[in-house]
Amino acid sequence: MKSITVKVPATTANLGAGFDTLALALDLYNYVTIELDTKTHIEVENEGRDSLPLDEKNIVYIAAKAVFDMAEVKMDGLKIKLVNNIPLARGLGSSAAARVGGAMGANYLLGNRFSKDEIMSLTADLEGHPDNVTPALFGGLTISYVDKEELKYFKISPSVELKIVVVIPQFEVSTSRAREILPSEVSREDAVFNISRACLLVSSLLTGQLEHIGAGMQDMLHQSYRKKLVPGIDDVFEDAMKSGARGVALSGAGPSITAFTTEGFEKIGNSMQQAFLKHNIKSRFLVTEVNNNGTEIIE
Ligand code: HSE
Repeated sequence: MKSITVKVPATTANLGAGFDTLALALDLYNYVTIELDTKTHIEVENEGRDSLPLDEKNIVYIAAKAVFDMAEVKMDGLKIKLVNNIPLARGLGSSAAARVGGAMGANYLLGNRFSKDEIMSLTADLEGHPDNVTPALFGGLTISYVDKEELKYFKISPSVELKIVVVIPQFEVSTSRAREILPSEVSREDAVFNISRACLLVSSLLTGQLEHIGAGMQDMLHQSYRKKLVPGIDDVFEDAMKSGARGVALSGAGPSITAFTTEGFEKIGNSMQQAFLKHNIKSRFLVTEVNNNGTEIIE
């Protein structure tokens, strides 16, 4: 039977100021291999091999099934193999990558019946917010927005070769919990603060004027409320900047933290790891780059 492998990048959402709007694809990947079968079997390697469901509750399967349903095609089962390199529940878009991988794989098996934009709408609905889904599909830095109930995005490719040092603590944070603790209303002052920073960040990435990234990644809408879920966050931010990072942000809903830089990656990563350790939290770090291709089908 025809089988297909889909390569989907990790993503870091918000970038500080761009809550639920900005996100960037990274060169860290999950691989979803999928084919039609008479029953569903799921196999997982690496991240989540001991914890992810191996039946029809798996979100890769649910996204794939949603594509078959949208096409009104009956499907008896899927054989799915997941090679997961994106850590789970660490703010690096693992659930968006899983849904995008399942949906893109199913779409391929259906002869690419749907456009990537249609797959984006479906997977963003399943995910509940669009910001990780758009860069996972299209790569680069995406600005996601809803216009008259329709999800849209604008992709830009940063004009500078940035490195993103990602520090991944050992503990998990549930995105739903990290969203529940946010206030439902914000002051005009905080809204203006974030609008100014988000504009500054996008402009500085577009023009390569990196001296504005640090200010552009500041935020008043979510990070301060999420501090209680990420012990040590203030020290990690401070030590990253002292070690030469251009800007630092909580990755998505956390707990990973990203530092943007063009040099001194090891020093920055080590200092962030040490800062977590002061709070008795073990972590590891990865030095990543921007992925500009988004999801790719590997025949
Ligand atoms: N923008 C979302 C949040 C990303 O911060 O809650 C979650 O992955």
